[in-house]
Amino acid sequence: DLVIGTAAAGGGHHVDAGYPDPFTYDKQYRRLLAAEFSSVSPENQMKWDFIHPEPGVYNWGPADAIVDFAEANGQVVRGHTLLWHSQLPAWVHEIEDPEELRAVLKEHIQTVVGRYAGRIQQWDVANEIFADEWDDGGVRLRDGETGATANPFIEKLGPGIIADAFRWAHEADPEAELFLNDYAVEDWNTKSTAYYDLAEQLLADGVPLDGFAFQAHLDLQYPFPSTLQANMQRFDDLGLETAITELDVRFTLPEGGVPTQEQLEEQADTYQGVLEACLAVEECNSFTIWGFTDKYSWVPSFSPGQGAATVMSEDYERKPAYWALHETL
Ligand code: XIL
Repeated sequence: DLVIGTAAAGGGHHVDAGYPDPFTYDKQYRRLLAAEFSSVSPENQMKWDFIHPEPGVYNWGPADAIVDFAEANGQVVRGHTLLWHSQLPAWVHEIEDPEELRAVLKEHIQTVVGRYAGRIQQWDVANEIFADEWDDGGVRLRDGETGATANPFIEKLGPGIIADAFRWAHEADPEAELFLNDYAVEDWNTKSTAYYDLAEQLLADGVPLDGFAFQAHLDLQYPFPSTLQANMQRFDDLGLETAITELDVRFTLPEGGVPTQEQLEEQADTYQGVLEACLAVEECNSFTIWGFTDKYSWVPSFSPGQGAATVMSEDYERKPAYWALHETL
């Protein structure tokens, strides 16, 4: 069964934008979050810098609040994320001894996954482990050999750490479905093919990998990823589940900041196209948008000049994209 989810805002850029914690203080936000979705993803609250800021110090409050909220509202949770190069505290970057780094990662995964065992439907175990196609050296793991930001675990421990991360997560919660997750893999391209090859290898090695996930941070200045469905299908054919995990559709705002009707219609078509691809693939079981209101969207702070990327306006007005999703379901 397909669940429809959203990221639950909190932490990250919201703090800089002056919002204490939308998830707890904005009643309208909470009401819509409960009413409109069957799955919730912590936007930041389970990332390493939030949940494990200092050695031996875990900050469970914000993550617990989301899991409790989801349970109270009959929603499932997507855990995000364990093995990632970003939002990783300095103390982890500073560990040079491979044995120690490996032990720290293992403890982190066992502790975080273990705490929520049985309460998380899917985990993004490994996030953005490949460097982009346009970085030096083509597509390869973030091993420190490309211009892309390195993943310190892969750089210092080698690519075998990916399989270990999946094994540790599986030990800590045998029920959770374990995913690889990335951006710029929506089309059948060099990067998604690198994942396909990796997934095939992991499965051949008996690694507990359950799915491949497409973030889908899309931008109207680029063509719609027209091979998305075929691309999802090849992972499905490999025996994996697939998921859309972070869909949003940004565009350059006109002067004055108000989107044109044309932009909103094109955005609606894009949202719809992604949902249609997911619906056409048998084991595409989870469809998540990266926030449901422009009020808390990460897009304007990360791509200045762009915005209005979600399905509701800043005052929770439903945009054409919202209705397009509803009509498609
Ligand atoms: C983003 C959050 O939305 C922001 O609040 C935060 O400041 C930075 O991270 N890919 C991912 C997500 O896997 O975790 C990122 O989320 C967006 C890109």
